[in-house]
Amino acid sequence: MRIVLGVTGGIAAYKAAELARLLIRSGHEVQAVLTRSAEEFIRPLTFASLTGRKVITDIFSSASPDATLSSAVEHIGVAQEHDLLLIAPATANTLAKLAHGLADDFLSTMYLAFTGPVVLAPAMNDKMWAHPATQANLVALRARGHYIVDPGTGFLACGTLGQGRLAENETILAAVEAAVEAALQPPVRDLKGEHLLITAGPTQEPLDPVRYLTNRSSGKMGYALAQAALERGATVTLVSGPVSLNPPVGAQVVQVRTAQEMYDVVIANLDTATTVIKCAAVADYRPAAASSEKIKKAGTPLTLELTPTTDILAELGRTKGNRILIGFAAETGNLRDYATRKLEAKNCDMIVANLVGGPDSGFESDNNEVLLALKGGEFIDIPKAPKAEIANRILDQIGRFRS
Ligand code: PMT
Repeated sequence: MRIVLGVTGGIAAYKAAELARLLIRSGHEVQAVLTRSAEEFIRPLTFASLTGRKVITDIFSSASPDATLSSAVEHIGVAQEHDLLLIAPATANTLAKLAHGLADDFLSTMYLAFTGPVVLAPAMNDKMWAHPATQANLVALRARGHYIVDPGTGFLACGTLGQGRLAENETILAAVEAAVEAALQPPVRDLKGEHLLITAGPTQEPLDPVRYLTNRSSGKMGYALAQAALERGATVTLVSGPVSLNPPVGAQVVQVRTAQEMYDVVIANLDTATTVIKCAAVADYRPAAASSEKIKKAGTPLTLELTPTTDILAELGRTKGNRILIGFAAETGNLRDYATRKLEAKNCDMIVANLVGGPDSGFESDNNEVLLALKGGEFIDIPKAPKAEIANRILDQIGRFRS
């Protein structure tokens, strides 16, 4: 693959030199593009020596060996001649420029002309990473199908401890390989004719007009399933609890808040569904009675009475018919045992069990690591991967149930 490696101005820029070496060792051709700020941290000569190519640092400086290629349109030529764009490290400023389509240097201009897969490995201060502006830009970039390699947590250059350090080069390389593999695959439309009813996100169970019980589900896993199912030709109804994700284009999305609302919408949309995937983290309990007035602080312990919600998955299992039913299990241990119990108790075709409570997997993360427990006693381990990848491995099983 011909890869453009964009390096932007952060202390982690020096790590991009090793990344260039790893990419070349994996058989890729690398064209380095450094922003002006990146040059403050690392010299172009380092990349020129590693890649054997002149490094592009300026929109008006030609790196092309083709003397006829005008430097004025070089960004178009480079965009057309390369298969993948990787930016590592990607600063908050670069993410903002890409998200909003600003084109004020070679890299951001070339990005607008680039039509292949894009992998972004951000690195920045933890407060900058957590800022709503950065997070909103990431939502927009993810919605465009770009691969985001989340930064790791640790001591940052500014001396604080938090999330923001550039992911390990091996992790970035794995994301590049996943993007390359996905780009090489012809589009598979194997779910054409299927109507998937997918639930995602948390539920919120009101205590009073200003408070509710909820959980850490971000909706990412369920939305990844919906996106992957659409790409594979399925019709998708996505029943979503409150999340801050852009709905996948092409899905019929129904927003709900409580477990009871989710139950009502799922049942109302069941008739046309050929497969149901219950990925939502539905509250098992809700306050027995939500107060109509704000509960006042009394300075004494407060006891809440909770009552069980309807188990939607169990209800679907009772009326399953020919429909494929896939449940999830969020567990903190004994995945195999709990998955097997849920599979039988809820009459499912498959349970997707994930370990939750750890870092960089399960709730909120862009990655997951799951065990598929299938009817008939088969287990499939899927190692840690981006949720888009996990979603496709889950959907692969639908074809097996049909045959
Ligand atoms: O949203 P993300 O941040 O991407 O995180 C993804 C995830 C961790 C939420 C997801 O991968 C996941 O594990 N979803 C299921 C969470 C859950 O509620 O697990 P559970 O073991 O408590 O429930 C088992 C199954 O019963 C689930 O399919 C659930 O949807 C279903 N259920 C639970 C309670 C209820 N009242 N009705 C249900 O249908």
